[in-house]
Amino acid sequence: MTSPVLDVRRLSVSYQTGRGTLRALRNVNMTVQPGRIVGIVGESGCGKSTLISTIIRLLAPNARIDGGSIEFMGRDLLSLESEAMRALRGDGISMVFQDPMTSLNPVMTIGRQMTDIQHRDNRSRADKLARAARLLERVGIADPAEQLKRYPHHLSGGMRQRVAIAMALMTEPALLIADEPTTALDATLEVQIIHRLRQLQQDFGCAVLFISHHLGVIAELCDEVVVMYAGEVVETGSTREVFLAPRHPYTRKLLECDPGRIEESTRHLPVIAGKLPDLVDLPKGCVFRSRCDESIDICARKPPELEGDDHCAACHVVGQ
Ligand SMILES: Nc1ncnc2c1ncn2[C@@H]1O[C@H](COP(=O)(O)OP(=O)(O)OP(=O)(O)O)[C@@H](O)[C@H]1O
Ligand SMILES: [Mg+2]
Repeated sequence: MTSPVLDVRRLSVSYQTGRGTLRALRNVNMTVQPGRIVGIVGESGCGKSTLISTIIRLLAPNARIDGGSIEFMGRDLLSLESEAMRALRGDGISMVFQDPMTSLNPVMTIGRQMTDIQHRDNRSRADKLARAARLLERVGIADPAEQLKRYPHHLSGGMRQRVAIAMALMTEPALLIADEPTTALDATLEVQIIHRLRQLQQDFGCAVLFISHHLGVIAELCDEVVVMYAGEVVETGSTREVFLAPRHPYTRKLLECDPGRIEESTRHLPVIAGKLPDLVDLPKGCVFRSRCDESIDICARKPPELEGDDHCAACHVVGQ
């Protein structure tokens, strides 16, 4: 077994709010092996962004890590000094956000930004520009030499996101984290970018952690899936197994409510009857119980653990 690029163990994170402590993540386990694409899926508010922000340590000021560990290439991220963490965000781990302007500077040309990011390289400026142009070409941008002279606001949303992806790959990271990178784009562009991302991942060989509430995109892109519900991981496994033979009742409902595969993406969140539990006042037992049609006595008393070898589910009923 190779050692994982990213290993998250029993991670718990909460936010201090006016109503009390909101327990956004509870005992989250998740692993990304080298060269794999892992998708995190789940309804709005299930903790996807909190998980990512904890990994890259860009948490809101009212957040607190209550326990657990995060290892990146064998290094304990939670104990790294801020300086070391910043350096790691620069080259070991790259991010692509939903809004590409998060990572692009509006007052600098694309060329300037793409050469600045290579500051650790001793190459000449011309070489760096040539490298930037090659990367733009690989993310599917026509006439890259010309685009390098332009500012972000000259580009369309889809092009900006391609530039953001090119920037993220520039440092050849071991892990690329993308939080809903295609959610703001129209369906056709989304498909194009997803295909391109898959190709790039194969070429670069980096591991990818891909967040989306869009099942079609996850199915298209990812090798493995992590299904989250209300701050917990409820199912993990290969994309194939989770999609073809979902084990957790929540995953099954999520798939039933899927508005369609990638060809007819609608961007509406899946609608499952009932509401997410209040994360400030959590129910006893299983968090999904109030929306589950299959619950049994024990579900009201004891929270289920994630169990299984390759395909895992946190469910008392499945475990029987
Ligand atoms: N700074 C904050 N203070 C208080 N609560 C927060 C804060 N940030 C997030 N939350 C809460 O934590 C929970 C998880 O939010 P998070 O943004 O991680 O979910 P998400 O899965 O990324 O959702 P989405 O699909 O809408 O992006 C939600 O209940 C959210 O309201
Ligand atoms: Mg989010």
